[in-house]
Amino acid sequence: MINKKVESVLNAQINKEFYSAYLYLAMSAFFDQSGLYGFAHWTKVQAREEVEHGMIIFDYIIDRNGTVDLQQINVPEKNFENPLQVFNKIYEHEKSVTESIECVASMSEEECDLATRNFINWYIAEQVEEESNVMDVISKLKMFEDNKAALYLFDKELMQREYKSHSYNK
Ligand code: FEO
Repeated sequence: MINKKVESVLNAQINKEFYSAYLYLAMSAFFDQSGLYGFAHWTKVQAREEVEHGMIIFDYIIDRNGTVDLQQINVPEKNFENPLQVFNKIYEHEKSVTESIECVASMSEEECDLATRNFINWYIAEQVEEESNVMDVISKLKMFEDNKAALYLFDKELMQREYKSHSYNK
């Protein structure tokens, strides 16, 4: 049986992961309407990964004989300006998700729930990768500034991103 405080922060994390998916989908729609199909593809792939992040926690709570408590998902922002502004928002968002994951890890330790502490390690590593990937995009966008030809080529590069499925024990 899972510790109730840990169960509560894990349920909150499911909501944050699904909100992340919504946010990335809103960004994907903006990019699609802007004719930046590679950026639209990249953010849509990220949205799928976020759904998976939520589902892995969902499965974990059930495997620990806990109770899944799904809450309302907030409406994501939808007024975006340009790729650099969007990716700066992504970076800020992912930093907040990292803090949230670290709080799950801290709570697991406080409550001596070492199974969850071990489970959440994968998310800690995933956040390092996500923040790094986003920073790479931001660095390139800053380098291009208003160079439309470079942006066009970078958009093609982002189209190459492939969805990679993860699972913790299924
Ligand atoms: Fe599931 Fe982008 O964190």
